[in-house]
Amino acid sequence: MEKVITIKEWLVNVVQLNKINVVGLGPGNIKYLSTAGIDCIKQAEIIIGSTRQLSDLKTIISEKQEIYILGKLNELITYLKENVERKITIIVSGDTGYYSLVPYLSKNLSKNILNIIPNISSYQYLFSKLGENWQNFRLASVHGREFDYIKNINDEDIEGLVLLTDDIQNPYEITKKLYNNGIRNLTVIVGENLSYDNEKITILEIEDYKKLNRKFDMNVLILKKGENYGKK
Ligand SMILES: C[S@@+](CC[C@H](N)C(=O)[O-])C[C@H]1O[C@@H](n2cnc3c(N)ncnc32)[C@H](O)[C@@H]1O
Repeated sequence: MEKVITIKEWLVNVVQLNKINVVGLGPGNIKYLSTAGIDCIKQAEIIIGSTRQLSDLKTIISEKQEIYILGKLNELITYLKENVERKITIIVSGDTGYYSLVPYLSKNLSKNILNIIPNISSYQYLFSKLGENWQNFRLASVHGREFDYIKNINDEDIEGLVLLTDDIQNPYEITKKLYNNGIRNLTVIVGENLSYDNEKITILEIEDYKKLNRKFDMNVLILKKGENYGKK
């Protein structure tokens, strides 16, 4: 009698032969791509990523490889299921473990099917540029989601916050809200287009937040408490 198997069981069987690689691009400039990541890209039959990421990788992608530009996530899952027996590499920005597609892929496919190659995150790159460590900072994101940064910045256990931003919750809107809620003694660091030729790092004190009233490119925001933070 024929045995009916679930899609998860089928995927796990396929995994014995082939895994879907998920490669962290790092901050973006190809110089930061890992050797393991380059191998996964070169060996893939199908490479999946955003237009910008695929353009960043154009020197290592060959014409024989199939390209899939990321769009709707449910369509991606259908495409992956249809092509799971081929060698696939998915590119994600920064680190695979920090606000990436990985949880969505694990939930909708199977954790076992993924071969994850991490890389440095945009925020790690920015801290390194500043010559500072990040272990006492809290990592969060306001990119299309809510996060109570006013409550969190006042947590005595942390040195500051790292926020991924978007066009609506941008560095100006965030710092304006912090300032209007009485936050002082805070250094604001904005890293735009990190690792690219047009990289821009802006550093100012919260009192000067009005200087941030401009358009921003893709950016990471660090909010670093000063020594006198919280003292009147
Ligand atoms: C979907 S999240 C992915 C974060 C990524 N996994 C990481 O580790 O950096 C996208 C956000 O990351 C940040 N980002 C990614 N690459 C960046 C870069 N090169 N420069 C500045 N910000 C970047 C921006 O805040 C962007 O909105």
